[in-house]
Amino acid sequence: MKTFYTSIFITFLTLTTFSQIQQKIVLNQPDTSRGYTVMHALANRASEKEYDTINLSLQDLSDLMWAANGVNRPEEKNRTAPSAINGQDIDIYAFMIDGVYFYNAFDHILELVVEGDYRDIVAGSQYWVADAPVICVLVSDISRFKFGDDDQRMLWAAFDAGIVSQNISVFCASVGLATRPRASMEIDKIIDLLNLTETQHPMLNNPVGYPLK
Ligand SMILES: Cc1cc2nc3c(=O)[nH]c(=O)nc-3n(C[C@H](O)[C@H](O)[C@H](O)COP(=O)(O)O)c2cc1C
Repeated sequence: MKTFYTSIFITFLTLTTFSQIQQKIVLNQPDTSRGYTVMHALANRASEKEYDTINLSLQDLSDLMWAANGVNRPEEKNRTAPSAINGQDIDIYAFMIDGVYFYNAFDHILELVVEGDYRDIVAGSQYWVADAPVICVLVSDISRFKFGDDDQRMLWAAFDAGIVSQNISVFCASVGLATRPRASMEIDKIIDLLNLTETQHPMLNNPVGYPLK
């Protein structure tokens, strides 16, 4: 009888835990009227080291994703970040406390890829980075470039990742969020965790959070 009650309790605990993880986060429409002007944001832009641990509001998370690489011209299927030969090779994986989410830009939603907190493998030796509630890992899929050899494609991937990263930095500077472009991360662990193919390359990451006062 004791075993029976124990297994009921464990099942209940498991179900409760699973139900707390959102499989899909439906993002708000971007608020394109907010923030400082571009010139003011550029005057503010700086790479920050410290982040408050509190979660971003849904609007901040939504606007962050859209500003980084959202769809700004749906009729032409084009994005807030340009890309070489319009390859649209950069995907954003949002590493958050509950799990890693894929930003589906065309549906403007975050889709759960892996449950669990894996921010530490993006932080690497800069362990304090894992305080940030969201770390955007920018992954290029170089197979989306219609031509070019691997060297050419990797160069385009680097350019494109840099532009998405800068979109994040300017957005953050415009709305008072803290971020920092980073090349450091445990790339092999990220590839394993996300089950990336050989044409998908983690290029850069940007931790994002509210600034520590
Ligand atoms: C491509 C690139 C990679 C970077 N990688 C890291 C990194 O791995 N870790 C880190 O702390 N900062 C990293 N940075 C941030 C730079 O250290 C920072 O931009 C530089 O010190 C200038 O400071 P500022 O951005 O405040 O002007 C990187 C910046 C760029 C552009």
